[in-house]
Amino acid sequence: MERQAVVTAGTGGIGLETALGLAERGYTVTVTGRDAERGARAMERIAAVATGGRPRFLAADLSSLGEVRGLALDLAALGTLTVLVNNVGAMFAERQQTVDGIEASFAVNHLSPYLLTELLLDQLRAGGPSRIVNVSSAAVKAAKRTFDAVEPPGGYYGFHWYGRAKLANLAYTLDLAERLRGTDVTVFAADPGGAATRMTDGTLTSPRIVSPGLRLLWPLVRRRFERSTASPAATAARSSVFAATDPSLDGRTGLLIGPQAQPAPVPPASADPRIAADVIRLSREHTRRWALA
Ligand SMILES: NC(=O)c1ccc[n+]([C@@H]2O[C@H](COP(=O)([O-])OP(=O)(O)OC[C@H]3O[C@@H](n4cnc5c(N)ncnc54)[C@H](OP(=O)(O)O)[C@@H]3O)[C@@H](O)[C@H]2O)c1
Repeated sequence: MERQAVVTAGTGGIGLETALGLAERGYTVTVTGRDAERGARAMERIAAVATGGRPRFLAADLSSLGEVRGLALDLAALGTLTVLVNNVGAMFAERQQTVDGIEASFAVNHLSPYLLTELLLDQLRAGGPSRIVNVSSAAVKAAKRTFDAVEPPGGYYGFHWYGRAKLANLAYTLDLAERLRGTDVTVFAADPGGAATRMTDGTLTSPRIVSPGLRLLWPLVRRRFERSTASPAATAARSSVFAATDPSLDGRTGLLIGPQAQPAPVPPASADPRIAADVIRLSREHTRRWALA
């Protein structure tokens, strides 16, 4: 039977390397991105290594919840799903709002993968045993832990806002794993470590992305960022590919796969049930109008 895999933001960076890894392993891979030309280039590269069906590209800007819903409908039309890798993620140097009027870090890194996953659960159940992989980040450790609202109080610092959205997504991932325990759908988070990609090249150069205390130490902080994001994207994709495919994870769920492509301890805040409850309440509130009837 054909095994279908979806990798969001799969036309470049870690997502493209993840898509290549899945295609080599026999999955029929659909990648998403915003840019059709990058999509076409990704198709050529994936087709050259694919041992399963022909790859597909679907265009969607995942900062728009309406486009997330449209993408879910397009994917549902393809039939059952064996792997969903929610790889999309972005860090914004300056505060931005999405077309839905939601702060962009929270929308792209959490609400978008949350909504896509919820909308595709029927296809994943039908394709079981199936796996959901949500791409995480070590930046969760630098995150504020309050989730009363989309944005925490205080000024905007891109790195911390990014980490907080990734924390929300990790808390959701662990909660979803429990919700689906005993079914054929298992759920993992994958921390790629760091890689030199457009995201890191574009945002880790300005001291404005960190809080004022850390700005005082900027040369040190920057050197640390540079060192931690020096790996190739192919190395960083190992955790997602492992989480999506490795047989040692059969029957297991709710694990964080670390940069060494092995299960790793989860940051304690992500397993705090009060944080999960606040995140899920916020997520439902902001995605309600996009739910399927
Ligand atoms: N790089 C790191 O050091 C690092 C570390 C920890 C975690 N991560 C996480 O790893 C994942 C991949 O990161 P990366 O560094 O590979 O990022 P990246 O290089 O910026 O990713 C590029 C991919 O994202 C797509 N993309 C960007 N914004 C999008 C949007 N709004 N809607 C749809 N697609 C979009 C791009 O396609 P188009 O331009 O065609 O839209 C392209 O396919 C993210 O979740 C990130 O948070 C990265």
